[in-house]
Amino acid sequence: MRVVILGSGRGSNAEAILQAQREGRLGRARVVQIIADRPEARILELGGRFGVPARFLDPGPFKTKFDEAAETRYLDTLRACEPALIVLAGFMRILKPRLLDAFPRTIINLHPSLLPSFPGLDAIGQAWRRGVKVTGCTVHYVTSEVDGGPILDQTAVRIEPEDTLETLEARIHAAEHALLPAVIARLSQAGAGGE
Ligand code: GAR
Repeated sequence: MRVVILGSGRGSNAEAILQAQREGRLGRARVVQIIADRPEARILELGGRFGVPARFLDPGPFKTKFDEAAETRYLDTLRACEPALIVLAGFMRILKPRLLDAFPRTIINLHPSLLPSFPGLDAIGQAWRRGVKVTGCTVHYVTSEVDGGPILDQTAVRIEPEDTLETLEARIHAAEHALLPAVIARLSQAGAGGE
């Protein structure tokens, strides 16, 4: 199962996926391309470390969405990769219907809360400030409803009295690093789109 990873930042979840692949924990999935929308994104460094092609792809002038030219660029590049699964691993940009419709039930996203609670930006901070006692992380299919697509799996993380925002962030990230590769492995056994 050919997998493309899209990211914008440090890439710790992409690293967890690639480490799982190296250790034979990613089922039939194989990462064939890493794409970042920021040239300085640390996720791009993983390419050399894990022997996977990694490239910056110009996202156009907007901060959180593509203009039409950038959307076409991403569409063409993704199509050329022939992905069975596209994983948004910290990709901080909204995808619109033209791109989503080109890859039905193929794009999944990782989000650092128990959706449908706390969609959008700064989900961990939102949960922290709201004072919930349980939060966590979610992997879901991407649809045009932001953070609203069908949920594939979740891990709950308890907020303990001694937690700080930093310790909570660290535990949620650790949960993400286990959850996302496990979901990908499971999808690869089912055949992506089959769940
Ligand atoms: C992760 O915590 C992921 O859940 C979040 O960005 C982080 C990326 O970290 N994604 C979102 O908030 C999407 N709305 P990473 O670059 O180290 O994998």
